[in-house]
Amino acid sequence: MSDNKTKHPSPENSQENKPWGGRFTESTDAFVEEFTASVSFDQRMYAQDIAGSQAHARMLAKIGVLTKDECDSIVQALDAIKQEIQGGEFNWRVDLEDVHMNIESRLVAMIGEPGKKLHTGRSRNDQVATDIRLYVREQIAFIDAELVRMQSAILDLADKHVDTLMPGFTHLQVAQVITVGHHMMAWFEMLSRDRARLADCKIRVNVMPLGSAALAGTPFPLDREYVAQQLGFDAVSNNSLDAVSDRDFAIEFCSCASLLLMHLSRMSEELVLWASQQFEFVELPDRFCTGSSIMPQKKNPDVPELVRGKSGRVFGNLISLLTLMKSQVLAYNKDNQEDKEPLFDTIDTVLGSVRVYADMLPHIIFNEDNLAQAVNKGYATATDLADYLVAKGVAFRDAHEIVGRAVRLAIDENKELPQLSLQQFQSFCSVISEDVYNVLQTRGSAESKQVIGGTSPAQVRKQIDAARSKLNV
Ligand code: ARG
Repeated sequence: MSDNKTKHPSPENSQENKPWGGRFTESTDAFVEEFTASVSFDQRMYAQDIAGSQAHARMLAKIGVLTKDECDSIVQALDAIKQEIQGGEFNWRVDLEDVHMNIESRLVAMIGEPGKKLHTGRSRNDQVATDIRLYVREQIAFIDAELVRMQSAILDLADKHVDTLMPGFTHLQVAQVITVGHHMMAWFEMLSRDRARLADCKIRVNVMPLGSAALAGTPFPLDREYVAQQLGFDAVSNNSLDAVSDRDFAIEFCSCASLLLMHLSRMSEELVLWASQQFEFVELPDRFCTGSSIMPQKKNPDVPELVRGKSGRVFGNLISLLTLMKSQVLAYNKDNQEDKEPLFDTIDTVLGSVRVYADMLPHIIFNEDNLAQAVNKGYATATDLADYLVAKGVAFRDAHEIVGRAVRLAIDENKELPQLSLQQFQSFCSVISEDVYNVLQTRGSAESKQVIGGTSPAQVRKQIDAARSKLNV
């Protein structure tokens, strides 16, 4: 024993500093101490840890485990510790492993005996699970606020361009005429579902593990409901083994985040394409772009590119957490300490990505002339012509064939459909008359899509209005 101590000299005999030191006969290996510590990254949950401890202390006073004075001194000291942390004066110690033991140890140093009673009926296992849930709950609210800002910017673009025509693509080939407003509202819908998913995830996040103690519960008659109420939890967990061990709520959050980033990556890809010289559909604001160190003419769409790239990190975090949880036996295992970095990185990435989009979108400029030119290339009204034939009694499959032949002719003659003569049209089908040229107009094409969810400006206007009143913007 003393041999080992000489092998691993420790300036302050760390085993005696550890809250769990009693059972141990030698100090923790110096590198193991570093390797097993989480304080470098879990300290960001200090506010949640303190709020949880204060609620727990008040409850312990309520059930008579602490006196009112002991409770008061704990609550006040924790407030003071919070200020130390916020003021950058707190000395985070790796030998105290994590945020929980750092704060508790400071508490004991500050107030002595009462501080030592705080951990009654509690374990770091239910404590950390509670902290993470509080933290994720708060971050979901922040993310949602940024998503609302982004959605509101999208609505403004949709509003401004409810009448602006553009080509709609399938297979990235010109397919039909749509409006920019319609396209923007597609983005809006994606984000609405992302917000709904996060709101739903929050229901399962907002359940309180505290009171589960290490794994089995505790003999102290804890008033869990009282703690939950103080901390704003909707419910207390039903099973202590489950509550201390499962991180499915974090996985669920990361899966919501993955879908969100998948959506942002799609928007990003479109912006990158649209900003290119091949499309020139949009002009991105200079202050959201960067130049090249060698090519003086370059203006690179770094923000959408980077957000597109960041999706990979978020998907990776989801897989990390799934793999972390897979095959874990009940109840808490140290593996779970690995939940935090992927989770926090996901939160930071989501917040940054949505924020930069919300900042950038109000300043993107759609190039209406180029969009108008683009929509008049590529036979975007061919389907309208087929629908016209159907209205004149031709079966859709025959109409499709007829229009296909007309398009073939136009391609051969290097023309767009409205440039074919009535005679040429009639050579394919005798029911075609002069009014066909109305149908081949791009604006008429867009306006005709009156079906719910369709691209007609009237429909899109309805969607925008409904969205505005729901969003309150
Ligand atoms: N730092 C630990 C974690 O993040 C806290 C829980 C530790 N519990 C334990 N029994 N060692 O998971």
